[in-house]
Amino acid sequence: MKKIIVAITGGSGAIYGIRTLQLLRELGAETHLIISAWGSKTIQMETSYTVNEVKEMASVHYHSGNQAADVSSGSFKVDGMIVAPCSMKTLASITSGMASDLVSRSADVMLKEQKKLILLARETPLNLIHVRNMETAILSGAMIFPPVPAFYNNPESLDDVINHTVGRVLDQFGYDPEWLKRWGEPSKHSNT
Ligand SMILES: Cc1cc2nc3c(=O)[nH]c(=O)nc-3n(C[C@H](O)[C@H](O)[C@H](O)COP(=O)(O)O)c2cc1C
Repeated sequence: MKKIIVAITGGSGAIYGIRTLQLLRELGAETHLIISAWGSKTIQMETSYTVNEVKEMASVHYHSGNQAADVSSGSFKVDGMIVAPCSMKTLASITSGMASDLVSRSADVMLKEQKKLILLARETPLNLIHVRNMETAILSGAMIFPPVPAFYNNPESLDDVINHTVGRVLDQFGYDPEWLKRWGEPSKHSNT
């Protein structure tokens, strides 16, 4: 069974973190959830879920100020971490190595242990600070995975867009969701 840390921070798109938790539960993974203070706010502002409902979707959840949580230590075995969405503030906290809250500490642990760290970095447009922080994150071993929609899979709803992005993130952990529409598979719409 895979063990994955999921963090929801205050970037727009809390639904990406929520869908990640829902799909990982369907796939039988053990999830360790951290929600930042602004992640909680965006859950309330952008979705119909309560923060408690989101916490219940995870196997375990931790307060973002709890630096003594299991996921704060490299000796706690996990397969990796997904930050969905990842605000520019959290990106900056990770790339500065400050580890000032549990999200950036756990991400720091992923980098030092050379584990998978996937950041659904969300902001637009990007300034040079954002781009440089993304470069530092990549050079340090993280994957920057902006939640940018694809259209080659002919999405028919926002749900299709969200599921496609999250499905591609889960690909990174070796999952192969059967509903994920991949390029090269037959499409309902064709220009040819
Ligand atoms: C509704 C809403 C949407 C936001 N969207 C973004 C965003 O897309 N990207 C971003 O970097 N910050 C965004 N912010 C600002 C962050 O929430 C803010 O910088 C916060 O301090 C991030 O803290 P955290 O990373 O600890 O959650 C948004 C804030 C709100 C209230």
